Amino acid sequence: MVKKKTCVFISGQGSNLKNLISYSRKVNFPIKISLVISNNKKANGINYAKKYRIPYVFINTKVQNYNNKILLNLKKYNISFICLAGYMKIISNNLIKNYQKKIINIHPSLLPKFKGLNTFSRMIKNKETKAGCTVHYVNKKLDSGNTIIQKSFFLGVKDDEEILKKKTQKLEHLAFPEAIIKIFRNSSF
Ligand code: GRF
Repeated sequence: MVKKKTCVFISGQGSNLKNLISYSRKVNFPIKISLVISNNKKANGINYAKKYRIPYVFINTKVQNYNNKILLNLKKYNISFICLAGYMKIISNNLIKNYQKKIINIHPSLLPKFKGLNTFSRMIKNKETKAGCTVHYVNKKLDSGNTIIQKSFFLGVKDDEEILKKKTQKLEHLAFPEAIIKIFRNSSF
C-alpha cells in the first residue's frame, strides 16, 4: 500500500497530531504524515514533529501572501491530503479549491450543533445532555462540510468545561483515525 502524503495543520497542544503520528506508523494505516504546518511558533505540537523527524513549517498568518507559502510547501512535499487538528485559522478558498474533498477537520461538538469556538461553555449553558466530536470535510463555510464520523457521550452532572474537554479528546483520538480509514477504504482517492 502506498500511503497518502499528508500534512497536519496545528496551532496548539497537538494531542491529535501525536495520535495521528502513532497511527500513521502502523503498516496498514493509509496515510503518512509528511509535513506539519503550524501558525504558532510556540505550539507544543511542533515538539512531536521534531521527535518523529517530520518536516515542519511555521506560517506567519499576519503577513500577506501567507496562503501562497502554505500552497508552496504543500507542493514541495507532494501533499495529497490535509488534516486540520486544532488549527485556529480559517483555511483560504484557494486552498479548498486546490484540495477539493481532501481536507478534513476535527471539531469538539456534535455538528451542526455548536459550530465555532467555546463549544464546551456553550454546551453547559445550554444544558445539553449529549456531547462529542465530529470529523468532517472542510468546505467554504465554517464547520459545515459533510460529516465523516461522529462520536458522542452523555454529559455527567459534574461535567465542567475541563472534564468535557478530556472526555471529548478521548473520543477524538478514536474518531480521527477511524474517519481516515473510512475515507480511504472505499475511495478511489
Ligand atoms: C481539539 O479538541 C479539536 O477538536 C479542536 O481543537 C482541539 C485541538 O487539540 N479543533 P490538540 O491540539 O489536538 O490537542
